Amino acid sequence: MSILIRNGRIVTAVDDYFADVFIVGERIAQIGTGLQVHADQEIDATGKLVLPGGIDPHTHLDMPFGGTTSADDFDTGTVAAAFGGTTTVIDFAIQTKGQSTIAGLDAWHAKAEGKATIDYGFHMIVTDMADERLPELERLATEGVTSYKLFMAYPGVLYVDDGTLYRAFRQAGANGTRICMHAENGIVIDEIVKAAVKDGHKDPIYHALTRPTRLEAEGVHRAIAIAEVANVPLYIVHLSSADALEQVRLGRARGVDVIAETCPQYLLLDDDYYRKPNFEGAKWVMTPALRQKWNQDVLWRGLKFQELATVATDHCPFCFKGQKELGLDSFTKIPNGAPGVENRMVLLYHHGVNAGRISLNRFVEITSTTAAKTFGLFPRKGTIAVGSDADVVVFDPNRKMTISHGNPLTHHMRTDYSAYEGFEVQGWCDVVMSRGRVVVRDGKLETHGGGRFVKRARAGELLR
Ligand code: URP
Ligand code: ZN
Ligand code: ZN
Repeated sequence: MSILIRNGRIVTAVDDYFADVFIVGERIAQIGTGLQVHADQEIDATGKLVLPGGIDPHTHLDMPFGGTTSADDFDTGTVAAAFGGTTTVIDFAIQTKGQSTIAGLDAWHAKAEGKATIDYGFHMIVTDMADERLPELERLATEGVTSYKLFMAYPGVLYVDDGTLYRAFRQAGANGTRICMHAENGIVIDEIVKAAVKDGHKDPIYHALTRPTRLEAEGVHRAIAIAEVANVPLYIVHLSSADALEQVRLGRARGVDVIAETCPQYLLLDDDYYRKPNFEGAKWVMTPALRQKWNQDVLWRGLKFQELATVATDHCPFCFKGQKELGLDSFTKIPNGAPGVENRMVLLYHHGVNAGRISLNRFVEITSTTAAKTFGLFPRKGTIAVGSDADVVVFDPNRKMTISHGNPLTHHMRTDYSAYEGFEVQGWCDVVMSRGRVVVRDGKLETHGGGRFVKRARAGELLR
């Protein structure tokens, strides 16, 4: 099968030019102007952008959490991602406490295999790391799982202590792999939560009021210090506040190998959402919590000036009915997480590029290329180049759309609400291709299934 994309404006993290793209099988075979080739199919991209497929390095599909399971599995979640222009997700496999991480990886392979429509990789969530388990991290790396997430939050669930952090950090560094960190002081937060509950507080707004940004900043500071001593590259996930960003800035300024991710929800939503009546605020209960609005400008500037490296979704969807409602009698029981995998690219394009906050090249960099480079997918993914996977989005910069749970063009996630209900955007994914297969065209799913696990390279190595 071959496809010729004609007359598009090709935009990567560094380039911006008009050319044709010739795809043969799964990869890009030629790029040039006026290509004279025979193709099985032609796509006219006149007036359109031709972008590398998005890479979302932070999703939680089919994940048991908060007394329930995230609403999208590898079928619905990856289809929704594709509709939104994302062609690779890196999801989080979980080590069951006391058991092997390899068993955790097997369990996540079983969830995903044969279900995904786009390609996927796994990080491993490490929930304990006795000395005798440390060799498992090398085994995981050889299986293509070259990054590990550890939690300072959620005591009694995913939390690990600083000793465990240090042991895992040191081993991951020695193996040439990367640590992802949920950086928030969960132990102190738990004390604040207990006091709020004792005082009789039940409403969703208390999720935010019990999680001061200073405790996120403290977690970031501590994670950076431990990574610096353990000599491991660090990736702070879902950074939400100006206080936390300041710590990343300080760490980078003294030469620590730390980069950070933020998410559309921290750029576009704020803690007022928790005050919506009739328990509706529960829809946005996630950790870290949404912050005061003024933080958003600081995060946008951080993206523009390279202090923040990527934008992921932390897609961890729960329905309002039956799932978020588990916390009707207490904010502490609301499952933490929100949907967004389908909305990231267009939100970032509209509120970033159209709003003049970031350049088009930077848009590609933060939604695709940097994630590919950071997590061992580049140059196979994350760019438009000869030899790269044909993960390509033909993007219409003029098409307008209103994001809504009720709009069949904008909502394929298996939640009964949209976190961005009513958001208007200009810019839309006309055609989305994964390894040379047209997955989405003009709002219709053309290929269902066929996504594959990608074995990722180690930090600094290339994946060909
Ligand atoms: O609320 C969130 N973020 N849920 C998913 C788990 C995590 O902390 O990433
Ligand atoms: Zn987290
Ligand atoms: Zn997460």
